[in-house]
Amino acid sequence: MYRSHNCGELRSSHINKEVTLAGWVQKSRDKGFIVWVDLRDRYGITQLVFDEERTSKEMMEKAQKLGREFVIQVKGTVIERASKNPNMPTGDVEILVSELTVLNSALLPPFTIEDETDGGEELRMKYRYLDIRRNPVKNSLMFRHKVAQEVRNYLSREGFIEVETPYLIKSTPEGARDFVVPSRMNEGQFYALPQSPQTFKQLLMVGGMDKYFQIVKCFRDEDLRADRQPEFTQIDCEMAFVEQEDILNAFEGLTRHLLKEVNGVEIEKFPRITYDEAMQKYGNDKPDIRFGMEFGELNDVTQHKDFGIFNNAELVVGIAVPGGNNFTRKEIDQLIDWVKRPQIGAMGMVYVRCNEDGTYKSSVDKFYDEADLAKWAEVTGAKAGDLICVLSGNKDKVRPQLSALRMELATRLGLRKPNEFAPLWVVDFPLLEWDEETERYHAMHHPFTSPKPGQIQLLETNPGAVKANAYDLVLNGNEIGGGSIRIHDKKTQALMFDYLGFTPEEAKAQFGFLMDAFQYGAPPHGGLAFGLDRLVAILGGQETIRDFIAFPKNNAGRDVMIDAPAPIDDKQLAELSLKLNIQS
Ligand code: AMO
Repeated sequence: MYRSHNCGELRSSHINKEVTLAGWVQKSRDKGFIVWVDLRDRYGITQLVFDEERTSKEMMEKAQKLGREFVIQVKGTVIERASKNPNMPTGDVEILVSELTVLNSALLPPFTIEDETDGGEELRMKYRYLDIRRNPVKNSLMFRHKVAQEVRNYLSREGFIEVETPYLIKSTPEGARDFVVPSRMNEGQFYALPQSPQTFKQLLMVGGMDKYFQIVKCFRDEDLRADRQPEFTQIDCEMAFVEQEDILNAFEGLTRHLLKEVNGVEIEKFPRITYDEAMQKYGNDKPDIRFGMEFGELNDVTQHKDFGIFNNAELVVGIAVPGGNNFTRKEIDQLIDWVKRPQIGAMGMVYVRCNEDGTYKSSVDKFYDEADLAKWAEVTGAKAGDLICVLSGNKDKVRPQLSALRMELATRLGLRKPNEFAPLWVVDFPLLEWDEETERYHAMHHPFTSPKPGQIQLLETNPGAVKANAYDLVLNGNEIGGGSIRIHDKKTQALMFDYLGFTPEEAKAQFGFLMDAFQYGAPPHGGLAFGLDRLVAILGGQETIRDFIAFPKNNAGRDVMIDAPAPIDDKQLAELSLKLNIQS
């Protein structure tokens, strides 16, 4: 038996007990006549003591040689500590060691295995198994387990069945590139790894499974960001005989359950806004509604003066920054530089100081008087002490610019509190979105999404205006889930592929199996998928999903620990009938 107890378990009630513990040496302090060792495992830390009076000389020497991260087993007696440590759960006791076995020695770790480590991100990724020994990473993984467990409990209780779907499939268009896998047995042919199990879950509905879920890996070859990984996990769900309302209720229930069980937060009803409203009020389809700063459109109250920039702009729009009148001139100039950076791309920023005495001072005083500025304040909801920031230009450009400024200011002002949760449904997404590059409409969600009833004719005349029964679940400014009601008849699906530029042959070759299935009694159905990594990170009060993934990829999509991706040898290439053609 390697251990009778774990390292987080012993309390004063165990005093005088003989115990066996095993774990890693966190650190040791050697005073010559006495050696203390902190022994660590997943459950905590227990202090071991070896002293000259009560420990043999031989064992004393052995204890003095223990290095950091050595794996040891000890037998000994639980005794009361002379100086207790109230900050540690095991801080009342220590183990007087009678037997010490070194199970494995360890090289000096390349960074300290402590909560605050000296290791940089890349180094910690290379030695991720050591990073996982640290509390912040270990706790994140345990937190993820708890969330996943609660998801399974809740959905199982609600009658959902977890079904596994294949990873070696044919490409499903979800907007990203596929990772492909060559097939040895089918020369020159490739599987694609699923960007999501979308078509399979629809086929499960045709198969009569009624309520499906799966905690499942998805693969997308896209550029990485803090909230994106090339392989990530979805809580993928689908239901038959449902309308949008049923789906929103079902998954609002799941999210409410998680917030309550995991975070102890009770939220009654999640607000809903339409996509158009979200764009108008926040310039963003995943608005963070933990703080106000809603957009105020100022065209009507700015266009009667000689300020050409505003007069010529499609949209003049501003936000009131609470307490922003405290910003110094220098700080405001920095903000102006910030919005003019190429990443944001604004031409400039007009501002109005709302003084405590009720007067206004703006950067465009030459054109607008106090009465004008009072109207701006009214439209943006600015109060005395606030700062109004105004951007102008083309609607589609200026909204995202002001949205970025809104988020930046909220971050600077500490308004994005990690322990405050503000979920929100964004509904009525457009069915299609215009792609500048290919000069074509693409499905905004995916090609299986159903247009709103009665809107299909609009595809002919005004495709951009067609709305879908598609929805996103947003939490604290992050898209944590998205889904739609699906098309479930062959004719509409074929029409949709046609609008998206697929020839009937292409549609048949890629999705014939789905359209065939629709001919055998497909029920009306719909669903949603949560991004589990994102959900866990946000419930955990963070936004970087890497911290909640055991073995994540770096920003270049590499696993620096196992050094993947990597070349394969010529024999393997030949077996796969592949020939590399790399020009250096
Ligand atoms: P969608 O593409 O919106 O929908 O994906 C669902 C959710 O998955 C998360 N997500 C990601 N998380 C981490 N890294 C990524 N690269 C990544 N990409 C997406 C997001 C997102 O909301 N089949 C549909 C769902 C449906 O219609 O039911 C789908 O995959 O949180």
